[in-house]
Amino acid sequence: MIGRRRVLEVLGVAVAGFSLRGPGWASNLPPTPRQTAGPFYPMAFPSDVDNDLVLVTGHNSPAKGTVTRVSGRLLDPAGRAIAGARVEIWQCDVNGRYHYVDDDRTDRPIDENFQGYGQTVTDDAGAYRFRTIRPVPYPGRTPHIHFAVSGSGLQRFTTQMYVAGEPLNQRDGVLMGVRDPAGRARLIVPLRPAPEIEANTLAGTFDIVLG
Ligand SMILES: [Fe+2]
Repeated sequence: MIGRRRVLEVLGVAVAGFSLRGPGWASNLPPTPRQTAGPFYPMAFPSDVDNDLVLVTGHNSPAKGTVTRVSGRLLDPAGRAIAGARVEIWQCDVNGRYHYVDDDRTDRPIDENFQGYGQTVTDDAGAYRFRTIRPVPYPGRTPHIHFAVSGSGLQRFTTQMYVAGEPLNQRDGVLMGVRDPAGRARLIVPLRPAPEIEANTLAGTFDIVLG
């Protein structure tokens, strides 16, 4: 027999869950697949590590490439926001060069106006946002942006975001290493023109669900 106190506890949990998570409170969001950090995480950090990779402090020119706004929410499997977590991204510049790493591909110039790496902290809604460039391919890889998520109580999580419609996606060993097509799909983001935000800008949403 279930006591009155137990009933109230159950009701309390259910009501709290409903108010926090909305009508889908019972939902179990599938986790974002984990992906390798790869060899190009910065070995040293620049002085400018903010969430705008298109502008480097002290430089007069913006990065070359198509400005792209990437934003999303960091969630747990129940759909609850994870606030106060650090989100880092890094990617190659428009010439296919990573920054702050040992890179012997000196046949291609570095775009010194691209920040290459940036970080931010999720807000109370679990939201993050970056202003960067549309990722480009480099030898052996389809376009992608590296992500790392960390914070107190969180195991460091790394993954990669891909661009919908890229023909190289189907031949990318890292992306195709996610065997489950539904899992792969959660890493692939459509980028749409977003003139309402900024001229000649793309925007995409990449929500990250930690398992
Ligand atoms: Fe990479």
